[in-house]
Amino acid sequence: MRILLTGKNGQLGRCFQDAVAGSKHELFAFDSTELNIASAQQVTAIFAEVKPDIVVNAAAYTAVDKAETESEMAHAVNEAGVKHLAQAAESLGIPVIHVSTDYVFDGLAVEPYKPSDQTAPQGVYGASKLAGEQALAQVATRYLVLRTAWVFSEYGNNFVKTMLRLATERNALSVVADQYGCPTYAGDLAKAILALCDQYEQTGELAWGVHHYCGDLPTSWHGFARTIFAKGLKHGAIDKIPQLTAISTDQYPTPAKRPEYSVLNTDTLAELGVQASNWLMALDRVMNKLQGNAK
Ligand SMILES: NC(=O)c1ccc[n+]([C@@H]2O[C@H](COP(=O)([O-])OP(=O)(O)OC[C@H]3O[C@@H](n4cnc5c(N)ncnc54)[C@H](OP(=O)(O)O)[C@@H]3O)[C@@H](O)[C@H]2O)c1
Repeated sequence: MRILLTGKNGQLGRCFQDAVAGSKHELFAFDSTELNIASAQQVTAIFAEVKPDIVVNAAAYTAVDKAETESEMAHAVNEAGVKHLAQAAESLGIPVIHVSTDYVFDGLAVEPYKPSDQTAPQGVYGASKLAGEQALAQVATRYLVLRTAWVFSEYGNNFVKTMLRLATERNALSVVADQYGCPTYAGDLAKAILALCDQYEQTGELAWGVHHYCGDLPTSWHGFARTIFAKGLKHGAIDKIPQLTAISTDQYPTPAKRPEYSVLNTDTLAELGVQASNWLMALDRVMNKLQGNAK
C-alpha cells in the first residue's frame, strides 16, 4: 500500500519509518516544512501528488505547557490540521489513522478509561487534541483514533532522555508521584499502527472509531523515573543513581493542569490482536539504542 505519513521527524514519525522499512509498503513521509498540516492547500496538493491508500498522522503540536499561551497554534495543528487531512482523505475515499492523547480525560476516574468514557480535557493541549478527534469524526467516513500516553523512544525529547540527562547533571531529583499513567514506547505504537495498516490491506476493513493504545503497566512519574534509573545504570547509560524524592503535583506547579489518573483501557485493540506496549522490555531496547547514539 501507499502510506502517507505526516510529522516524520517526531518520535512516532521516526519509529514508524523504522517499522515500515522492513515491510512491503511504500512510504511517503513528510516533515512539517514539506507538509504543514495547518495549510489546507499544502495538504490537498500533496495528497493529489502522492495518491495514498491510507494516511498515518504522526504530526501534532505537543508542547503541553506552551499550549496554554499558544492556543491558536495548538488548534491550528491539532484541530484544523486534522480536519484538513480528513477532508483530503475523504475526497480520495481513503482512511486516516490518527493519534490522540490521554489528556482528553480529566483524570478523576478510579479505573482505566475506556474509549467511550466521558472526555473533559484539563488544558489547551488536551482540548485541541479532542477537537481534532471530533473534526475527524465529523468529516471522515473511515478513521481510527488511537489515544496514547507518556510516549518515549530513542528519538527526540521525552521523559526517559530527560531523566538520564538529569541523572548525569544532579545528585538529587524530585519527581511527581501522584499522577498515574502508562508509559508507551513509540516503536510499539508504530508497529501497532503498521499491523492495522496490514489488516486494512488484507480485509479492506478495520474497527473504525476510537481505541486506546499504551503501555501494559501503569505507574507514576516517580515510579517511571525509578525504573529508568535502574535500567540506565544496568545498561551503562548513567554511572550513578541520583537520590530520588517523591513529591506531589502541588509541589511541582506547571502551566497546564495534567490528569491525576490517565490509565487507558486497551481491551478494544487487544480484541483485534494488537497487544499493549511492554514498556519495561522496550525501555531496555531504548537504553541499548541510546548507547548506540540515536539522536
Ligand atoms: N509525547 C507524548 O508523551 C504523547 C502523549 C500522548 C499522546 N501523544 C500523541 O502522540 C502523537 C505523536 O507524538 P510524538 O511524541 O511523536 O510527538 P513529537 O515528537 O512532538 O512529534 C510531533 C511532530 O509533529 C510535527 N508537526 C508539528 N506541527 C506540524 C504541522 N503543522 N504540520 C506537520 N507536522 C507538524 C513536528 O515537527 P516540527 O518538529 O518540525 O515542529 C514533529 O516532528 C501526537 O499525536 C501526540 O499528540 C504524545
